[in-house]
Amino acid sequence: MSERDVKKFARLSLASAMACCFVSTARAEEAIGDKAGAGHVLALEVCAACHVVAKDQGFTPILRPPAPSFSAIARRSALSEAFLRRFLSAPHGTMGQKAGMPNPRLAEYQIDEIVAYFLSLEGAR
Ligand code: HEC
Repeated sequence: MSERDVKKFARLSLASAMACCFVSTARAEEAIGDKAGAGHVLALEVCAACHVVAKDQGFTPILRPPAPSFSAIARRSALSEAFLRRFLSAPHGTMGQKAGMPNPRLAEYQIDEIVAYFLSLEGAR
């Protein structure tokens, strides 16, 4: 393959990978159609680069070492709705113990969705 072919191939594979991603998130939202379902879809889009957010996540987080998985977080005895709301709306740099996580700058309705998703996970109360 010439260098041009290689670039063309890379562009095409990227485009098809992205198209596949959009289709699958749209389907997940349609299938679930509730607040926790919307939070699931949003978390796959916004949080999955650093966390394993769901079993159907199609790739490994790129963050090394990865942030704790959402299922591990959900199983913590200290997890509460109030903690999640506070954590997800904290200003940049004040989040978490190691200041490891940037402020995701979620809108209020997105926080509602993510909190609903967390509370729907196995082990959460
Ligand atoms: C750029 C990487 C990154 C992204 C993106 C990210 N996180 Fe995190 N997150 C981290 C790291 C690192 C930690 C562990 C250190 C800490 O608590 O800050 C963490 C910890 C957490 C915790 C546990 C806090 C605790 O007390 O241990 C929650 C809850 C959380 N993230 C939720 C989310 C949600 C929801 C999203 C998407 C809206 C998200 N994260 C996106 C890196 C990220």
